[in-house]
Amino acid sequence: MNVQTRIIRDAKELSTFAHEAQKAGKTIGLVPTMGYLHDGHLSLIRAARQKADVVIVSDFVNPTQFGPTEDYATYPRDEQADLEKCQSCGTDVLFIPTVETLYPNGQDSTWVEVSKMGNILCGATRPGHFRGVATVVTKLLWLSRADYAFFGEKDYQQLTILRRMAQDLGCPTEIIGMPLVREADGLAMSSRNVRLSEDERSQALSLNQGLRAAHALFQNGSRSVKDLTHAAQNIIQAQKNTAIQYISIADPDSLEIFTDAVPDRAIMLLAVKVGSVRLIDNMRLD
Ligand code: PAJ
Repeated sequence: MNVQTRIIRDAKELSTFAHEAQKAGKTIGLVPTMGYLHDGHLSLIRAARQKADVVIVSDFVNPTQFGPTEDYATYPRDEQADLEKCQSCGTDVLFIPTVETLYPNGQDSTWVEVSKMGNILCGATRPGHFRGVATVVTKLLWLSRADYAFFGEKDYQQLTILRRMAQDLGCPTEIIGMPLVREADGLAMSSRNVRLSEDERSQALSLNQGLRAAHALFQNGSRSVKDLTHAAQNIIQAQKNTAIQYISIADPDSLEIFTDAVPDRAIMLLAVKVGSVRLIDNMRLD
């Protein structure tokens, strides 16, 4: 489905566009991204195309969700390739804002603070990360007047936090979660994968292999956090250049972390640095 995608860079212009669409009785689907689009992103855009009359994709590397020592400056960017992919998936508007248009008062911003769900897992090693995510997503929801917003289960904690944020703030947008998309060999698709060397790329397969080992144990009846975690840990640590940030088993809705016994509904989540590239992955155990 090839369409002419309109590029909008100014926040007010997006707001006007969305207002007109709404007045014309059209439903709006929003897909927030940081660009360098891959098939994981495109699965969200296709879902939006199916569900909504108007599809808006945002492409913005959001500075406020990166820590001072993180990869904001080196995060991959390719606007032209993103535009072509958006066109091929039927995107009506590609919103590529400047930092100034989204943060008119710079760092002296109004923030959306996240509940304690934002301080565990990725939040423990990335302080302030989810505050940056929640703040930028709130802006995008306002500006786009989205009826539906689409997020991937690849960033499972992010999706859970945003659902909770929408509920807490009485946000009218329906938050829709979509399945994690993997490469044929099991690696979770990520814009950051391009920064892996050939060796690191094959070492990174251990994330998915570790999750699968834990999943197999769980399916065979193991309910021990320690055993399931060790199974994943051993596989990942066997690869040099990997440094585990966390491997946790949690409740899929509340993200409450289990420390002893695993109940029948559970998800394993992990973050691992492979060389200098930080990767995340997760898998439902049930
Ligand atoms: P980004 O990492 O570009 O991801 C944009 C959306 O694509 C997120 O909802 C993410 O979960 C989804 N996604 C990424 N890889 C995926 C995969 N392999 N399978 C399925 N979905 C995938 O997440 C962000 O950007 C930012 O934090 C953002 C929400 C845009 C706020 O700045």
